[in-house]
Amino acid sequence: MKNYTLKVHDIKKETKDTITLCFKQPGLKKIKYQAGQYLTLSFRINGRKYTRPYSFSSAPSADAFLETTIKRVPNGIFSNYVHDTVQVGDIVEVMEPIGDFVHTHDEFTNQIYFWGVGSGVTPLMSIIKEVLISNPLVQVNLIYGNKNFESTIFLDLIDDLLKQYPEKFKVWHFHTQYNHVERHHFVKSGRINTAFILDLLQDTDVEQTKHYICGPIDLKNTIKEALGILKCPKENILSEDFELIKNPKDFEDIVTHTINIQFQGIDTIVEVEKGKSVLEAALDAGIELPYSCQTGSCNTCKGKLVAGELRMIGLSKERDDLESEDFLLCCSYPLTDGVFVEIAP
Ligand SMILES: Cc1cc2nc3c(=O)[nH]c(=O)nc-3n(C[C@H](O)[C@H](O)[C@H](O)COP(=O)(O)OP(=O)(O)OC[C@H]3O[C@@H](n4cnc5c(N)ncnc54)[C@H](O)[C@@H]3O)c2cc1C
Ligand code: FES
Repeated sequence: MKNYTLKVHDIKKETKDTITLCFKQPGLKKIKYQAGQYLTLSFRINGRKYTRPYSFSSAPSADAFLETTIKRVPNGIFSNYVHDTVQVGDIVEVMEPIGDFVHTHDEFTNQIYFWGVGSGVTPLMSIIKEVLISNPLVQVNLIYGNKNFESTIFLDLIDDLLKQYPEKFKVWHFHTQYNHVERHHFVKSGRINTAFILDLLQDTDVEQTKHYICGPIDLKNTIKEALGILKCPKENILSEDFELIKNPKDFEDIVTHTINIQFQGIDTIVEVEKGKSVLEAALDAGIELPYSCQTGSCNTCKGKLVAGELRMIGLSKERDDLESEDFLLCCSYPLTDGVFVEIAP
C-alpha cells in the first residue's frame, strides 16, 4: 500500500458540524482515484498514530482538488482532532485511494438511485458529479435524509446541480425536523420509508436501475427490503458502511486470550481482551499495524494465521477472496491460546 503526503489547500465549512478538506494534488505524480472511493488519513494524536478512512466528496472529472468531507462524531478522537486542529497549509499523511463503492458504466442502466443519510452523502456526491458529467444518458436520483436544511451537507451544491441538469437530476429531501415553510417542492417529512420507495419505483423497470446506499444500518435494511419486494437484482445494489455494527450475541463465547503477533520481523505477546479485535489489541500495545476501514471491507489489516484459531465477526461484506489462513485483523477474535499471527511487512 503506497503512502503519500498531501497539503491542505482549503477548508470549507459545510454545516455546523461538517467540513471539507481540500488537498492539493502532488506536483509530480497525481493521485488517481475513482468517484466513490476513499482516502485514508493518519494523524499522531497524543503520541499515538490514528488512521481513519474518508470517502472522496470530489470527483475526478469535476474537481481539481482531492476533497474529503468530515463530520464531527460526538467524542470521536479523529473527527474532532481534524475539526479542532487541522489548518490550511498542514501536511497530512494519506494512503493511496481504495474502495469498491464505485460506478462502472454499462449499457443496461438508465436510472441510478442514490440513497443517503447525513454524512453518508459524501461518496454519493462524488459518484453523482461523475455520472452527471460523464454519462449524458443516465437519469440521476438522490434521496437524502437529514434533520432539516441546516444540517444538510452539500445543499448549495445540490441546488447548483439541479439548475445545471434540470432534466437529468432529481432530488427528494427527507427531514425528521420537518418545517412547513421549506423552500423545496421535494421535501418530505420523516425518514426514507418503504411506502415511498415502492411508490417511486412502481413504474420503473428495476432491472435497468442501479442503487447506491450509504447511511445507517436501518436505511440500508429499508432500501434493500423494498428493492427485494420489487425483485431488483442483488448485483444492482451497492452499499458502503462507515461503521461496524457489533452484535453482542456474536461475542458470547469469546474470552480473553494472549497471542503472538509478528510484525516487521518482531514478535510481540499481546493480551486480546474479550470484545477487542486483534487489531485494537495490537494498536493498544503500541504496534502500529496498517489499517483503514475497520469494517472488514478492505485488505489493509490482513494477517496470516500460523497457529491457533481466530474467528472473523461482523464483516460488512462477504469476502470469498481470502485464503483460509488470511484474516482481517480488525474483525478477528482469538478462540484459543497459542494464536500466532504474521503480518507481511
Ligand atoms: C469506507 C468508509 C468511509 C467513510 N467516509 C466518511 C466520510 O466521508 N465522512 C465522515 O465524516 N466519516 C466517514 N467515515 C467514518 C470515519 O472513518 C470515522 O469512523 C469517523 O469520523 C469517526 O471517527 P472518530 O475517530 O472521530 O470516532 P471514534 O473515536 O473512532 O469513535 C467514537 C464513537 O463514535 C462511534 N462512531 C464511529 N464512527 C461513527 C460514525 N460514522 N457515525 C456515528 N458514530 C460513529 C463509535 O462507535 C464510537 O463509539 C467513513 C468510514 C468508512 C469505513
Ligand atoms: S482495516 Fe479494512 S478490512 Fe480491516
